[in-house]
Amino acid sequence: SIIDPLLRTGYHFQPRKNWINDPNAPLYYKGWYHLFYQYNPKGAVWGNIVWAHSVSRDLINWMALKPAIEPSIASDKYGCWSGSATMLPDGTPTIMYTGVNRPDVNYQVQNVAYPRNKSDPLLREWDKPSHNPIIVPKAGINATQFRDPTTAWRAGGHWRLLIGSVTGPAHGVAYVYRSRDFKRWTRVERPLHSAATGMWECPDFYPVEAAGRREGLDTSVSGRRARKYVLKNSLDLRRYDYYTVGTYDRRAERYVPDDPAGDERHLRYDYGNFYASKTFYDPAKRRRILWGWANESDTSADDVAKGWAGIQAIPRTVWLDPSGKQLLQWPIEEVEALRGKSVTVKDRVIKPGQHVEVTGLQTAQADVEVTFEVSSLAGAESLDPELAGDAQRLCGARGAAVEGGVGPFGLWVLASADRQERTAVFFRLFRPARGGDKPVVLMCTDPTKSSLNPNLYQPTFAGFVDTDISDGKISLRSLIDRSVVESFGAGGKTCILSRVYPSLATGKNARLYVFNGGKADVKVSRLTAWEMKKPLMNGA
Ligand code: FRU
Repeated sequence: SIIDPLLRTGYHFQPRKNWINDPNAPLYYKGWYHLFYQYNPKGAVWGNIVWAHSVSRDLINWMALKPAIEPSIASDKYGCWSGSATMLPDGTPTIMYTGVNRPDVNYQVQNVAYPRNKSDPLLREWDKPSHNPIIVPKAGINATQFRDPTTAWRAGGHWRLLIGSVTGPAHGVAYVYRSRDFKRWTRVERPLHSAATGMWECPDFYPVEAAGRREGLDTSVSGRRARKYVLKNSLDLRRYDYYTVGTYDRRAERYVPDDPAGDERHLRYDYGNFYASKTFYDPAKRRRILWGWANESDTSADDVAKGWAGIQAIPRTVWLDPSGKQLLQWPIEEVEALRGKSVTVKDRVIKPGQHVEVTGLQTAQADVEVTFEVSSLAGAESLDPELAGDAQRLCGARGAAVEGGVGPFGLWVLASADRQERTAVFFRLFRPARGGDKPVVLMCTDPTKSSLNPNLYQPTFAGFVDTDISDGKISLRSLIDRSVVESFGAGGKTCILSRVYPSLATGKNARLYVFNGGKADVKVSRLTAWEMKKPLMNGA
């Protein structure tokens, strides 16, 4: 197929070329944000992994530096895999990462690196001390599935960190290691937590402020402010990041999810293409920020032809929802600095079967915020009990083109003038499930009509939105960036990132519509769409 250069994202993080995967060791130091990431310097497929390094003053404009960590010692000779940063009490940032030390199998150990020159705010050079590796898999640990150390936290004179692994037939496990001096680490016998989910990659563990408070907490905060914790794991088998909210028992060195079935329910950061994510505490604005990787849904041959593969999602501020049951996520406020020309639509009723174009601006790179209002929930569809618990299958069966009762309503983004190509981001309401009194709200991204190019992976993505819609209102924000649509439902309760590759709806030919595929009127109380400017992006 013909690869349109207009598919390359503009304001999502990307290097100039080649393959990227996990964000690594995000940190803030002397006025600069640092992002490291898994990178193949030699091509647009996974391999030859080093830590590429970029810096930014605002998390939006990025400058590429040379790779910070490359294979150079026996314990990382065959790969420098994912890891995290920890700030030592004297203000020194350290990096802990997984090294692959055997060519034949992916035998994994953990290494540490320190900045060569602490007075360099760009932290260009990293040294690997001779006491590496600092953690090796001892007897009983699966040495080929033992990786991705977390940020360490300190309590009672000890550092602790987690390492993701798998034990028994298929138990994801987060091992705890402790150290007094950051050099000698010993494993705590019982893991922090485990569940029958398969291998846990890229664990992340952090305290959150009381429900509803946006402020973030440093990973080492303890005491009353750190009543609740979040444990996130990346499910290697299913390729998504799920988390639970719970409590951390320091004495027993155990984590207990509030919802005993939490590990089975799989609350996700994002119900779309979003993996191997990691948070960090930003002391400059006292918030916790989430970075996640979105790979391509194009063929690997097309990735190679384009010369690049993978982006990072827009950094998101994360905090505990007022219910205390889940997180909320919202694009960092700095993104709004990219907003240019805008168009606003107010109090516009969309009749059943109708669609309305939002005109007067280019929308291939746009930020759209909209509040919908439905006057009555009476016509909502009933929920097939077979599909009631499975948003993904429900949306697969009732995609954007299937007429409903209340909904589907939402946006068609990256749409062609004839709407042959369009990506639908929408809601669909169902009558309260048995025993419940709240309507069930489904949020979906349906890319099945996103491109005339036939060789694409186009899964519908969906999640339920745990929101009280009794006032009839629900909001949606979509960040559109040429080949990515990143959407936030109900103020960040449910998020869906999707990669799409239109063949017609590119550049000036990309259009934006509001649609209503239900039987009841839907009002757009207010919609504002902004054109997005292109920031400095690693010299591209
Ligand atoms: C997750 C992952 C990590 C590993 C890295 C290797 O995408 O598989 O577990 O450290 O990528 O690039």
